[in-house]
Amino acid sequence: MSVTVRVPAKVNVQLAVGGARPDGFHDLANVFLAVGLYDDVTVTASDSLRLTCSGPDADQVPLDRTNLAARAAIALAARHGLGEPGVHIHIAKDIPVAGGMAGGSADAAGALLACDTLWGTETSREDLLAICAELGSDVPFSLVGGAALGRGRGELLTPLEVGGTFHWVFAVADGGLSTPAVYAEFDRLTEGVAVPEPEPSPALFEALRTGDPSALAAALANDLQPAALSLRPSLAETLRAGTEAGALAALVSGSGPTTAFLAKDAEAATAVAEALIASATCRTARVAVSPAPGATVL
Ligand code: C5P
Repeated sequence: MSVTVRVPAKVNVQLAVGGARPDGFHDLANVFLAVGLYDDVTVTASDSLRLTCSGPDADQVPLDRTNLAARAAIALAARHGLGEPGVHIHIAKDIPVAGGMAGGSADAAGALLACDTLWGTETSREDLLAICAELGSDVPFSLVGGAALGRGRGELLTPLEVGGTFHWVFAVADGGLSTPAVYAEFDRLTEGVAVPEPEPSPALFEALRTGDPSALAAALANDLQPAALSLRPSLAETLRAGTEAGALAALVSGSGPTTAFLAKDAEAATAVAEALIASATCRTARVAVSPAPGATVL
């Protein structure tokens, strides 16, 4: 028997970052929006823990026990006293790898829900979310989907209302960016500066609630963007190309290097994607809508 779970990518429509905490993490006001690009995680009973991956960027995905999906299966088995999990996890990968779209977190949430279903362990939602938070700051949101405010290091979620469909274009860069490296660059750039407490934006909540793309465009903010641009200056050209093609707004997605462009409708999104591909400032461009549901058993 196999179980497949579909999990969405995310974009951060607000990523307000505070100073480094004693544990090295940063307190955030992190507004996540799930977008309709998905990985499908399939689990099947097996003699031992095994991981495979398919898709255009499959060669960039680690297939050992460091993969968050494998760690999710190990953590769930441990929670239920099951010992070493005998499971084959297959990831059909469509979310850009190491791109700031939480692809690894999505796979972890997908593997967790899929294993819970396969093993009949009936873990409570609360326990699943606790395991997600141990695996990574973005993993709880991948389980929940939709839109949510993340406080703490991003794992403490409050769901948000979204009153319409938003049209996005994502420009996929060559190569990834390491999230810890981007946060370290944020620390370097803000050295000696009093970093304010991260605060969520009421204007952003209102834009999501009313589904107004122009209002959302005006409220988009990512405090990690200067750090991502500092490590990858060429992203400025990608941002410019999308803006010149008519995007309402452009920003780095999370820690990057994927860049996100908000369009006024589906037609505008297609035009922006075509212009980005023609600009040769990115490897490829994908259109997607939000919000999208969280991890779902197919
Ligand atoms: O939680 P996660 O494993 O995804 O975090 C990866 C890295 O990103 C952390 O080790 C830390 O360097 C950085 N991070 C941070 N503050 C956060 C989330 C992540 O500094 N709120």
